Amino acid sequence: MVAPAEKPGAGPPTVVIMAVTDAVRPAVRHAGIASEPGAQAALKPGDAAHGKALYLQSCVACHGADGTALAGHSIKDIKARIDAMQLSAWIKTPKPPMPKLFPSPYGAQDVVDIAAYAEGF
Ligand code: HEC
Repeated sequence: MVAPAEKPGAGPPTVVIMAVTDAVRPAVRHAGIASEPGAQAALKPGDAAHGKALYLQSCVACHGADGTALAGHSIKDIKARIDAMQLSAWIKTPKPPMPKLFPSPYGAQDVVDIAAYAEGF
C-alpha cells in the first residue's frame, strides 16, 4: 500500500520556491552585492567624492578629467548608455587595453564609488 504523500507529484511546491528566489535575485543584484557573497554588509551606496579621487588616480590618464580623452571611447555620456551597476561590472571586468583594477588595487566598494562618480559626468 502506498501512502498518498509518496505518490509522484505530491512533493513540496518546488516551483513556487524557485519563483520566489528568482524574483528576489534582481533586487539583490541591483544592490551590487550578488557577485560578492559575504560582502553584502560592507557595500554602501556609491560615494562620488571618493570615486573622484580614485578616478583622478587611475582613470584620468586614459579617459581625461571629463571622460572625453579617448577618441571613440568617450565616457562623458556613459550614464546615457549604462547604469551604475553595469559600470561597476565593466570596471571589474574591462575589455583590454583597459587595465583590470579589481580586486586590486580597488575593492568592491571602491568600484561602486568610481561608478558613482563617472555616472555623474
Ligand atoms: C590604460 C588606459 C585606461 C585606463 C587607465 C582606464 N581605461 Fe577605461 N577604457 C580604456 C579603453 C581603451 C577603453 C575601450 C575598450 C573597448 O571597448 O575596446 C575603455 C573603456 C571604458 C569604459 C566603457 C566605455 C564604453 O564606451 O562603453 C568605461 C566605462 C571605462 N573605460 C571607465 C574607466 C574607469 C572608471 C577607469 C578607472 C578605474 C578606467 N576606465 C581606466 C582605457 C583605459
